Amino acid sequence: MPLGVPMPWMAGLWRTPPIYIASGAGAYFTDLDGNRYLDFNLCDLSMTVGYGNETVARAAAEQSRLGTHFLAPTEDAIAASEMLADRMGLPFWQYTLSASGSNTEVIRIARFMTKRPRIVIFGGHYHGHIEETLVREEDGRSVAETPGLSPGSAAHTTILPFNDLAALERTLAVGDVALVLTEPVMTNCNLVLPDPGFHQGVRELTRRFGSLLCIDEAHTFQFAYGGLSREWKLIPDFIVAGKGLGSGFAFAMYGMSEAIGHCVADNVDIDIGPRGIALGGTTYGSAFALAIAKAMLRDVLTAGAYARVNGLGAALADGLDRLFQARALPWTAFRCGPRSGYCLAPSLPRTGAEGNQSLDFDLIDTRRVYMANRGIWDAVSAAGPQASIAHSDDDIETYVRAAGDFLDRVL
Ligand SMILES: Cc1ncc(COP(=O)(O)O)c(C=O)c1O
Repeated sequence: MPLGVPMPWMAGLWRTPPIYIASGAGAYFTDLDGNRYLDFNLCDLSMTVGYGNETVARAAAEQSRLGTHFLAPTEDAIAASEMLADRMGLPFWQYTLSASGSNTEVIRIARFMTKRPRIVIFGGHYHGHIEETLVREEDGRSVAETPGLSPGSAAHTTILPFNDLAALERTLAVGDVALVLTEPVMTNCNLVLPDPGFHQGVRELTRRFGSLLCIDEAHTFQFAYGGLSREWKLIPDFIVAGKGLGSGFAFAMYGMSEAIGHCVADNVDIDIGPRGIALGGTTYGSAFALAIAKAMLRDVLTAGAYARVNGLGAALADGLDRLFQARALPWTAFRCGPRSGYCLAPSLPRTGAEGNQSLDFDLIDTRRVYMANRGIWDAVSAAGPQASIAHSDDDIETYVRAAGDFLDRVL
């Protein structure tokens, strides 16, 4: 394995050698040397249910015995889709292996339906390892963000500043935009909240100019019951959710409006017939994934669980704010549901570029090593800390105490 890890990101995330894990329980994991860590990132939110969750373990064990996949639907697919429709507000659902896979299919469907080439994303974005969104701006042009992408992969992607409705209106008015793809809150450049009325404006403009709208809730479905789309009464054409719903299993999904669901049904890629939209894959929508999804939605991701976790998130943000105030630091805690973090400025950012200004890599790297040496895993630079279903009040206090010690040592 290059760099000794099974996928490169496990080495790219940190500037320290990887730790090898023996096991986990709840919000804690233990490495092969016997060190125990309290995890405040939980695999970039793909494990927010906690390690070794009993409900998930039972569903996984049961479905493993019954058969993990049939390339045909099971009853659990119906149950999970009905629960998603009920809580997320869109009537049709499909399943993939990752949020990257979901966004890829959403872009493809949008291009097919609108017969337009362009997608719009907002600065500070991350929508997965897909060519159309691995894009950055250089001298006012969109260029590929990473090496190895197809020539011209960025040609049909426009990046706009979040919270800038005038720029969006100018871009959509050209008439070539198939899809606006956005998170409800930008979560991958620290945290950028929408201005009041921003999402309503995005919805109105996309409708007026005939573009489709996808809200990518890969992270934020964990911020509120039914995601922030439901919480804020947004009515997009697509919703993406992912990260195995926080169970750690490799599946994701996307929801579609009535019209889009019918379009997908009418344009299926038939094996020995007319070619339709290329969607799906051999291991997508498996019995196993749908059994986990059903158990998660029915028994773990309940309204009560979200309320408890959001209380923990508020305590985490309050704790960080108290630390900053006590040390007269001109900083603010990020806060949105379970998510907090260190905003290195007195006021919160309004764009991705402003959000990235709090990404002080030396401070983040130092904090991670300091915290790890004290049994706390504060893992991904642009995300968190974040409270989760696996955390307790005591865990939040433990984090805030260690963060205070860290600030006293480095300042
Ligand atoms: C908003 C958003 N969309 C998509 C993705 C990609 O998810 P995956 O790693 O499941 O492909 C991520 C990953 O962090 C994300 O934050």
